[in-house]
Amino acid sequence: MKPFILNRNLAQLALLQRIELADYKLKKIRKTFGRYLFSKFFSKYFIDVKRISENYSKIMKEELDTIKKFTLGKKKFLSIGAGIGGLELLILKYTTDAHVSFIEKNYVSNKIKYGWDNLNKEGYNDLNQLENFLKNNEISKQRYQIFDFDKKNLPISYFDIILSIYSLDYHYDFEIYSNYLKKVMSKDTVLIFDTIRPKYFENIFRYVEIIKEDLNTVHKSKRIACGTFK
Ligand SMILES: C[S@@+](CC[C@H](N)C(=O)[O-])C[C@H]1O[C@@H](n2cnc3c(N)ncnc32)[C@H](O)[C@@H]1O
Repeated sequence: MKPFILNRNLAQLALLQRIELADYKLKKIRKTFGRYLFSKFFSKYFIDVKRISENYSKIMKEELDTIKKFTLGKKKFLSIGAGIGGLELLILKYTTDAHVSFIEKNYVSNKIKYGWDNLNKEGYNDLNQLENFLKNNEISKQRYQIFDFDKKNLPISYFDIILSIYSLDYHYDFEIYSNYLKKVMSKDTVLIFDTIRPKYFENIFRYVEIIKEDLNTVHKSKRIACGTFK
């Protein structure tokens, strides 16, 4: 697979969204100069854009492999917190009649914290950049729609697959989207997200399957595929 085309702005966002893209030198810089200077300056000007693009593409391909069995033949996708959208771009490339609706935040916090955010105040995205990423990688405008979470005009229709990779219930409470999800999940919709409390969701959904375990990370999260609200 050819690596994604990223410019410096997109590589910076990818790094802020996926801190595992930081090499040893960048991690040291973050520790020495703090999160503010890292988020604003070093993450933009002290990066190797080509390397980030190669590593980000590789990670996204691996993410696709974790969910592929659910996506085959599916058309209507919703992604909550897609970041710059590498995984969704692969879905759009591999499934030529797929359409993706994106719900994201349109700002980058001054000091990104990667933990649990009770108030859901952290944002690490720029919706113009998300659009540029899809355009630069040859996805036509008809194949996606972008919604700003804070504008509160979220798409209401049934989706086949809803993804939220390292976003919903990983950085902020599932409750924030619970009522909305009830409106856009039919009995056949599969919702895939990462959480540290998979058991909790057995009381909420009829079907819950663990499809990936991240035991080496600080969060020790599991990726689950869920279907049908109880
Ligand atoms: C850790 S990043 C993960 C990005 C991408 N899914 C990935 O796997 O690379 C979390 C993303 O969730 C987004 N986010 C935070 N709160 C959100 C909300 N309420 N709705 C949608 N996205 C949100 C952030 O802006 C950020 O891009």
